[in-house]
Amino acid sequence: MRLPDGFVWGAATAAYQIEGARHEDGRGDSIWDTFSHTPGAIDGGDTGDVACDHYHRYREDVALMADIGLNAYRFSVSWPRIQASGSGEANRAGLDFYSRLVDELLARDIRPYVTLYHWDLPQPLQDAGGWTSRDTAYRFAEFSVQVAASLGDRVGVFTTLNEPWCSAFLGHASGHHAPGWHDDAAAFAAAHHLLLAHGLGVQALRTTLPSEAQISITLNPHLIRPASQSDADVDAADRADLVTNRLFHEPLRRGAYPTGLADQTAAVTDWSFARDGDLQTINAPIDFLGVNYYQPTPIAAAPADAAAPRPWPGVPSAFEHPNPLPHTGMGWGIDPDAFVELLTLVGKEFGPVPLVVTENGSAFPDPPHADAVLADPERTDYLTAHVGAVHRAIEAGADVRGYFAWSLLDNFEWAWGYSQRFGLVHVDFATQRRTLKQSALAYRDLMAADGTAAR
Ligand code: FCB
Repeated sequence: MRLPDGFVWGAATAAYQIEGARHEDGRGDSIWDTFSHTPGAIDGGDTGDVACDHYHRYREDVALMADIGLNAYRFSVSWPRIQASGSGEANRAGLDFYSRLVDELLARDIRPYVTLYHWDLPQPLQDAGGWTSRDTAYRFAEFSVQVAASLGDRVGVFTTLNEPWCSAFLGHASGHHAPGWHDDAAAFAAAHHLLLAHGLGVQALRTTLPSEAQISITLNPHLIRPASQSDADVDAADRADLVTNRLFHEPLRRGAYPTGLADQTAAVTDWSFARDGDLQTINAPIDFLGVNYYQPTPIAAAPADAAAPRPWPGVPSAFEHPNPLPHTGMGWGIDPDAFVELLTLVGKEFGPVPLVVTENGSAFPDPPHADAVLADPERTDYLTAHVGAVHRAIEAGADVRGYFAWSLLDNFEWAWGYSQRFGLVHVDFATQRRTLKQSALAYRDLMAADGTAAR
C-alpha cells in the first residue's frame, strides 16, 4: 500500500538528550541539569552535560539525516538557552543556534518540526514552583513568542508540549523524572498548568506566526489493557484511563475535564487551581495531534498486599501489570497491533484533527563502539513492523499524516542515562563518532518504497 500523498517521514530528538554545551553562549540550567546531577537519580550517574555534542556537530548530524533520506526532523528548543532565568529578554546567541540549524535543514530539503517544551524547564522557574505555579504557563507563552518570532519565517510547524503526562506524573508523583517529586497533589496541579501553558502558547503562536503555520501538541496516549476481564481489572483499567488519557484529551478536544475526575481524585486534590476560562483557553483549535507510541499499558487491580510497584495518582487500586509480551532491550512490550488500535481510537476521538506519529522506536543493547554499519536486526524488525502498523491504521480509517522515528541518534535516555540506545545512528560517546545502523538503511528503503523520500 502507498501512503497518502505528502506523507512526512522524519526522525526526532530532544534538546537535553543530544545538545550538551551546558553553559555555552549564555545557556542557564534546566531542571534536568539539576536532576541529572543529583546522586542516584540517573543510571550510572550520567548527565546531559555533553550528550551527543550536537550543539557543535549539528552540521554533521543534518548531513546524516540527508543520507538517510529524511523529509523532516523534529527537534526541541532548550528553553534555558533562550531564557536562562526563565523570563525576560531572549538570548540572541541561543536563538542563533536554532536559526543556523533551521537553515542547514532547509538547505538539505528537510522540513523542521519544532517542539517548544520537551521537559527542560529553566531552573529559576522551578525555584518559583515550576509547573505547580500558574505563572509558569504565562512564562511558557512568552518564551513561545520569542522562538516563533525568530524562526517562524522558516519553520512551518510548531508543537507546544511533548508528553505533558510524563512532565506531570513522572516528574511530580513517581519522581522518576525532573524535578523528582513524590507529591500526587502537585502532579495534578502540574497537569492543569501544562494544559493551560499549551492553550496560552497556541494563542500566542497564532498571533505571531503566519496564518498557514501548523500548531500542535504531542501526547503519549496510553493503550490501556485490563489484565483480565474480571470486574476488578476492568475497573482498575478504566480508572487508569481517566487520569492518563481522558484527563488530557477531553480538555483539549472539548474544553471540559472528564466526568468522574473530581470524584476519583477527591482524596488527592480539590482542583481549586483550575480557574474560570482556563478550559476554554486549553480548548484552542490545533492543526494536528502528535502521538508518541512505544508499548501498550496492561493494568490490573492491585492485590491487597501490593507494595505499590508504580504510583498511579488518583488510582490507588490499579497497578501496571508485568508485560506478557515479547519486549525490547529496555523491557518495553513489542505490540504493533496495539499501535494500530491506538491510532484508530485516537483518530476517532480527535477527528477531524489529523494525527502525526511524532515518536516511535525501540532500545536494544548495541556495543559502545562501531566502525562499520552496525547490524541491529531487532530494532530493524521493530521499525518495519511499526511502519506497517501505520499503514494498517490508515487503511482502517485513521488520518495519519506522518511518522517520526525515535531517535535519530543514540542519546541521553532520561533516567536511564546512556544505558539505552534508541538511535538509527550509533553514537560512540567516548569519541562522538557517528555510525549508521542497519535500521537507518532499512528506514531509507521503506521511505524509498513509498516514493516520498528525499524529495
Ligand atoms: C518518550 C520521550 C522521548 C524518549 C522516548 C524513549 O517518552 O518523549 O524523549 O525518551 O520516550
